[in-house]
Amino acid sequence: MKSKKIKLKIGIIGCGAIGSRMAQNIVKDLKDDCKLTSIFDIDASKSAKLKKSLSSKVIIAPTLKDLIKSSDLVVEAVNAINTKDIIKAVVSSKKSVLAMSVGKLLGANNIFKIAKKNKCSILIPSGAIAGLDAIKAAKLAGIKSISITSRKPPRGLVGNPYCLKKGIDLLKINRETLLFNGKVSEAVKAFPQNINVAATVALAADVENLLRIKIITSPKFKTNSHEIIMIGNFGKMISRTENVACPDNPKTSYLAALSALQTLKQYCKGTFIGT
Ligand SMILES: NC(=O)c1ccc[n+]([C@@H]2O[C@H](COP(=O)([O-])OP(=O)(O)OC[C@H]3O[C@@H](n4cnc5c(N)ncnc54)[C@H](O)[C@@H]3O)[C@@H](O)[C@H]2O)c1
Repeated sequence: MKSKKIKLKIGIIGCGAIGSRMAQNIVKDLKDDCKLTSIFDIDASKSAKLKKSLSSKVIIAPTLKDLIKSSDLVVEAVNAINTKDIIKAVVSSKKSVLAMSVGKLLGANNIFKIAKKNKCSILIPSGAIAGLDAIKAAKLAGIKSISITSRKPPRGLVGNPYCLKKGIDLLKINRETLLFNGKVSEAVKAFPQNINVAATVALAADVENLLRIKIITSPKFKTNSHEIIMIGNFGKMISRTENVACPDNPKTSYLAALSALQTLKQYCKGTFIGT
């Protein structure tokens, strides 16, 4: 008799652009490895819309606590000031989490300690960059310098609090302009929605103090690109991604969505190659 495979139960917190994309992909592409069981959003209309769009049976959890309780692994895709508390609540309940809001985890050592104590995992996808594997390996022998230069079209940054505070009218920019040059801890505060990749690099290789971030915009840029230059005892690495937007969501780089899905797939299968 064929034994029934026990599938990992996945819950998603945040039914916006990323959460919805993840939900669709889990149902369609990861159906052999896991099962989307519940979703939750503070805005009930978002969770209702997502549930309607899904072909599989999914429960809208009445509360965050209910979602965590019913899941083996929680996908965090929340855009809120209390995202850190949400991730903390997941690992405090001894459940693993795939965190998308990586910037919120910078300096959150207590959350990593709780996860370790509770023997659960915090999964962080590489996002829209390449070379994270090399950065982690290079760290073992010492990194001397590392920088990320992100180039984004102005329209992709509209509404950014840092630009508003500085009085920068993004739509009036008519040439290549350096918007930010500084530390990763300042970059994630200034560009919370745009610079998760920098936080991912900082966390992956523990290079927060070394890492320099530049954010450049120009109406000539058609894609979001990220260039990483690293020098260490291993030699030199230059990586560059030129990202197209998700086919169904212009706000998100396609590679970021794909990397989240791939991270989840590896976790379900328990096989980690090149990570
Ligand atoms: N790591 C990466 O590569 C990467 C890529 C893209 C986006 N992100 C991050 O993922 C997160 C989600 O991005 P998005 O584009 O889907 O944002 P979004 O604004 O489209 O969706 C966020 C959702 O969170 C919900 N929400 C807000 N507060 C909540 C709360 N307290 N509890 C439950 N739900 C709540 C909102 O109602 C909304 O539906 C952001 O933090 C973004 O920076 C990361």
